[in-house]
Amino acid sequence: MLIQQHEDVTAAVLDVMQRTCDPRLREIMISLVTHLHAFIQDVRLTEAEFREAAAIIAELGKLTTDAHNEVVLMAGSLGVSTLVCLLNNGDRGKTETSQSLLGPFWRLNSPRVPNGGSIVRSDTPGTPLYVNARVVDSAGEPISGAEVDVWHASPVGLYENQDASQTPMNLRGKFTTDEAGRFWFRTVKMVGYPIPTSGVVGRLLHAQDRHPFRPAHLHALIFKPGYKVLISQVYDHEDERIDTDVQFGVTRKTLGDFKRHDEPHPTDAVVPWYSLDYVYVMESGVAVLPRPPIK
Ligand SMILES: [Fe+2]
Repeated sequence: MLIQQHEDVTAAVLDVMQRTCDPRLREIMISLVTHLHAFIQDVRLTEAEFREAAAIIAELGKLTTDAHNEVVLMAGSLGVSTLVCLLNNGDRGKTETSQSLLGPFWRLNSPRVPNGGSIVRSDTPGTPLYVNARVVDSAGEPISGAEVDVWHASPVGLYENQDASQTPMNLRGKFTTDEAGRFWFRTVKMVGYPIPTSGVVGRLLHAQDRHPFRPAHLHALIFKPGYKVLISQVYDHEDERIDTDVQFGVTRKTLGDFKRHDEPHPTDAVVPWYSLDYVYVMESGVAVLPRPPIK
């Protein structure tokens, strides 16, 4: 069709989208074009704003490297990552779920650590934290032999790959759950940290007067054939920014009770120390690992 006026554009594009062979891609492209065109009409996007938008999308790509993913950071900052997560988990959005954001810092090949071991690999000042976790299925039955990657930021708020003072793979480890579905380890209490703000995401936060912090959290990725890979973050419910996470990742189900103890630890005699007990619930499904956001 020949386009005469702006009202004709959407119809012409949708007509082409209708011809997409793959049915799911067709559904996505028709909806995308419908909403995108409606959005442009709604805000009466100017030519200058359109050029700026194109430049921003190009910049998101240019800023993304093997060690940094600005696209994932932007998706989180707009709540897209959490929306996708909650729509696709918890019996497809019907119940609460232990699933949370993958975030930009998961790495393949974390070193194996026996249960009870430590993931502190270089001198990392901080209060000791003892994590006792269980992995169960939707019926509450333990899942043994699950592979669990854990990772978290240091007590100064940096992941090892962002911080030359930490040994490679510091505060990362891979565990296997025992017959009761348990895994447990020692580490140091992490703190909340600011996401990188030197790029496009930083400019957005500045324009909206938003702080760049994520509340303190422990990442986990749990793999066992027969179950959907569980990607989770457990958040410190006492963190001052627990309800203003810049990545909108905190859900009620992922609040963790990081308990402070002021009496000596029963075996290690440290004071003070923290404990975290948490139960991860896996859903049945196909175990597909995500693509690591960084190397
Ligand atoms: Fe994180």
